[in-house]
Amino acid sequence: MQTVSTRAELGKSVAMLKSGGKTLALVPTMGALHEGHLTLVRRARACADRVAVSIFVNPLQFGVNEDLDAYPRQLAQDQRLLRAAGVDLLWAPGVAEMYPDGFATTVSVQGLDRVLCGMHRPGHFDGVATVVLKLFNQVCPDVALFGEKDWQQLTIIRRMARDLDLAFPRAEAIIGVPTVREPDGLALSSRNRYLSQAERASATTLNRAMRVAVAAILAGDPVGPVLDQVRRTLLAAGFDRIDYADLRSAETLDDLAQWHGGAARLLVAAHIGRTRLIDNMAIEPAMAHMPEVA
Ligand code: PAF
Repeated sequence: MQTVSTRAELGKSVAMLKSGGKTLALVPTMGALHEGHLTLVRRARACADRVAVSIFVNPLQFGVNEDLDAYPRQLAQDQRLLRAAGVDLLWAPGVAEMYPDGFATTVSVQGLDRVLCGMHRPGHFDGVATVVLKLFNQVCPDVALFGEKDWQQLTIIRRMARDLDLAFPRAEAIIGVPTVREPDGLALSSRNRYLSQAERASATTLNRAMRVAVAAILAGDPVGPVLDQVRRTLLAAGFDRIDYADLRSAETLDDLAQWHGGAARLLVAAHIGRTRLIDNMAIEPAMAHMPEVA
């Protein structure tokens, strides 16, 4: 695996990897890699001839009081994991390489970026869309892979690719990969390491409360009381604050007061100690006859 940190080196490496008509997949990350990222890499290897991973802790997507400085950085360990996973190229630029002096452009996917996390993290999705478009233009991937855990991010990136007629990758080649979870259901996240032991024990309630809610919605229960129950359960388990617990259209992210049988998503963001956890689960017509959770 080659690691490059300048656009000049990257251009040469990408040209080499794509020579002879080989296809290239990109897995964009902010590093601090875990099994969720490695699952994306494995899926990428199945989708394309060559795999590139980017590691860039993007300052544009962090708010003023967020964890930019504390965000875990462990390049050497990440390199070892990616090498073992069979990655061909690691693109690891510094901030000055990504945003040279005078950088002045922002990509904004309006509407989708104003709901859910967008309401609580103003500017966050502008930062994500801007850096992801740059990564796409730098690496020119045929396929790009993102975790479904960040469902709103995935939806916004797909919308951007559609709206801007991206060629590398085309919107249809932006692949969402199901969330990887701990055995107790907690979604993997680089931020889980911020949880104390007691918080980690309480955090498992998020998955349980959401699974109960999904089953209730599939059974036709009224959505408002189901979501109220999710909030009550989380607060009782030691969560400090809930940013949202919503049922939304999977594609448009429109708020759904009732489930009418289309593809929907239950999405929750909640704070426990200094950690903000997000998670989401699918609610789809095909699931309507699934057995209830234990
Ligand atoms: O999901 C992430 O890790 C980041 O938001 C991304 C897509 C790499 C952009 O910085």
